[in-house]
Amino acid sequence: MVLPVRVGVLTGGGDCPGLNAVIRAVVRKGERAYGDELVGFRDGWRGVVEGLTTPLDVERCRGILPRGGTILGSSRTNPYRTEGDVARLRATLADLGVDALVAIGGEDTLGVAHRLHGEGVAVVGVPKTIDNDLSATELSFGFHTAVQICVDAIDRLHTTAESHDRVMVCEVMGRHAGWIATYAGLAGGAAEILIPEQPFDIAEVAERIRRRHELGRYASIVVVAEGATPREGTLTMASGERDEFGHVRLGGIGATVAAEIERRTGFETRVTILGHIQRGGTPTAFDRVLATRFGIAAIEAVHDSAYGHMVALQAGEVVRVPLSAAVAELKTVDVATFARVAGPFFG
Ligand code: F6P
Repeated sequence: MVLPVRVGVLTGGGDCPGLNAVIRAVVRKGERAYGDELVGFRDGWRGVVEGLTTPLDVERCRGILPRGGTILGSSRTNPYRTEGDVARLRATLADLGVDALVAIGGEDTLGVAHRLHGEGVAVVGVPKTIDNDLSATELSFGFHTAVQICVDAIDRLHTTAESHDRVMVCEVMGRHAGWIATYAGLAGGAAEILIPEQPFDIAEVAERIRRRHELGRYASIVVVAEGATPREGTLTMASGERDEFGHVRLGGIGATVAAEIERRTGFETRVTILGHIQRGGTPTAFDRVLATRFGIAAIEAVHDSAYGHMVALQAGEVVRVPLSAAVAELKTVDVATFARVAGPFFG
């Protein structure tokens, strides 16, 4: 016999195309297949700490499949940062009679879910991040959409670069992983891709672009990940503020890289920072399907009492992995694999 439960749903961290598709799938299967009651928590963990809820049912989810962002709102609230917040969070769950939580988020949101599960909270995780840097899942939804947005932008930069014989530097997100830059750079035919996994020497980058222009190819696209790191002692970067989880706010390296390329080569070099455009708007068909599969699997996991697990994509199948495995370490780009693919197109 299927016993209905009261399930809380939250979305934490940076927003991402596909969040609404997950929410819709959780609600649809929860309500229709199990007779569950769903409770939406506002703004990530903040909603659970402060008891901020919003009604969540099939009616409320109509029309949200193609919509970017999250109908629940999001924040980077860390309940382990302020004394007493975890107790408040537990009190909210008890007061509302919430039996289980579905936490949709990245490294930070799922890290909190993992700790809470260790303290007896019934929680299932769903991997969300455009950065694609979560271990234990081959893909997180949102990544595919972000890459497509970057590639569309790079294609446009290409034609204007060709018209003006310019070098175009395009800065993309990804935090400390170079997945977005690698995929967007390869798909967009970039001349240079700078990622955190392979510290770069700006002198070598400039020299390769100079040689490329000597061969008669003037329009060069340089894709730089926001977390790309110069080889020690080769370029000084400014450091930014930190969020509640202690992560430094990245962004801005593109301007430094562009200025250096222009100074060292004499070629006119412009910079485009794609920023939050990569996180906004409608998800691709691929991300809608992946998000829907994850949402269905998450509510199934709740009904199997598979708490402390995250749904994940492995070899094309949606599986369950312990949250501990998901948050153990960042999944970064294997430079050797991509060098083999990219090698014939560069230099
Ligand atoms: O984790 C997703 C992400 O978009 C990163 O790529 C980026 O560094 C960060 O979030 C930006 O976060 P915020 O919107 O809070 O500045």
